[in-house]
Amino acid sequence: MDSRPVLFFDSGVGGLSVLAAAQALLPRMPVVYVADSAGFPYGTKSEAEIAARVPALLGRLAERYRPRLIVIACNTASTIALAAVRSALDLPVVGTVPAIKPAALISKTRVIGVLGTDATVRQPYVDDLARRFAGDCTVLRHGSAELVELAEAKLHGIAPDPARFAEILGGLFGQSDGARIDTIVNACTHFPLVSDELAAAAPHPVAFVDGSAGIARRIAFLTAGQDWPETAGDGRAVFTARDATTDALAPALARFGLMRPETL
Ligand code: DGL
Repeated sequence: MDSRPVLFFDSGVGGLSVLAAAQALLPRMPVVYVADSAGFPYGTKSEAEIAARVPALLGRLAERYRPRLIVIACNTASTIALAAVRSALDLPVVGTVPAIKPAALISKTRVIGVLGTDATVRQPYVDDLARRFAGDCTVLRHGSAELVELAEAKLHGIAPDPARFAEILGGLFGQSDGARIDTIVNACTHFPLVSDELAAAAPHPVAFVDGSAGIARRIAFLTAGQDWPETAGDGRAVFTARDATTDALAPALARFGLMRPETL
């Protein structure tokens, strides 16, 4: 029996949106979920800070938890540091990058919004995805640190103010051609956690897409033929710094089977 876990990594709770999709497909998967609470938030950091922090941290985590596979469940970390992490580690690493390709497949108006962190939306990686997969679309971008905070607050049981979502979405719909957006890429893993609030705040119906289902399929593909334990057992939640705020996440983490919080 192979009890090695799959390690999910994010700055905070956003990676839970990716974990949920993976657990739906692979219910016996043992999980180590890591939130870099000491480094949160990533979206307001520089490329140099993320590039220095993430590969080193994942190296320590790989040594400590010996995962079979790592999922960087964070668009900011993936669009900046995925290549460096892959070349530093001798195990499969799945990244999370903005789902521009699936968005371009379904957009009828050919105007797509990309909602991410400030750091993600300015990445050349996003230019490249837009050029390769949405060459005939207008791709509008907006970065929001506040939306990350609203998603974290929701997981702490704090009901978010609907007006904030409308204002944040105004950053996309208010751009030239923005009124024609019919598809929005949730290009930050925190945002699917507030998808109902975002959908309710949109000025007209739009489709929200993210990469979580595709990542789940990728994990299944890369682990095909491997054994899993009879049951997943209790997952671990690892924080790089713990305090009253992270401890208060216990009920939300328990919903994902993460019963054993610990500090790196
Ligand atoms: N969840 C992360 C992402 O997908 C970043 C959130 C943050 O720390 O700013 O980009």
